[in-house]
Amino acid sequence: MELKFLSEDMRKEIDRYVEAFPTREQAIIQSLHLIYDKYKDIQQDHIQELSNYLKVPVGLVEGIVSFYDMFRINRGARHHIRVCKNLPCHLMGCKGLIRTFEDLTGEKVNQKSKNGRFYIETVECIGSCSIAPAFMIDDDLYNGLNITEESLNEILSKYT
Ligand code: FES
Repeated sequence: MELKFLSEDMRKEIDRYVEAFPTREQAIIQSLHLIYDKYKDIQQDHIQELSNYLKVPVGLVEGIVSFYDMFRINRGARHHIRVCKNLPCHLMGCKGLIRTFEDLTGEKVNQKSKNGRFYIETVECIGSCSIAPAFMIDDDLYNGLNITEESLNEILSKYT
């Protein structure tokens, strides 16, 4: 079977995980990290190819991907905005922040990206409650307090 996503280096790394764990299933999460780091996304084709390569059920890989927030299927965008909506961030105004993100990007929260640039997602906590309302764009963490439409637009302009 032809492999489209798993490069030779990635396969070597995955083989190492398989050797390190007692079962092949336990290599799934590490392998998904590898795919996510390279493609910044996990798509159904990735899942299928990994399942074939590891010889584990595709449903098991799908279940792991959907369980963990850190893996998101088919967001269809180059940049991933995560806005925390848990209580501390809610009290500090995340609702307005989310609305501003939607206005500025033209995207709707938790819906597949239309223009392919941003995917906006609400999450339960990003471990930064002390700077509520907190949000992340890709791996960058921001404090949304006192943020204006103008300053948010400036931040977004860094992500092309
Ligand atoms: S509650 Fe928002 S970052 Fe923790």
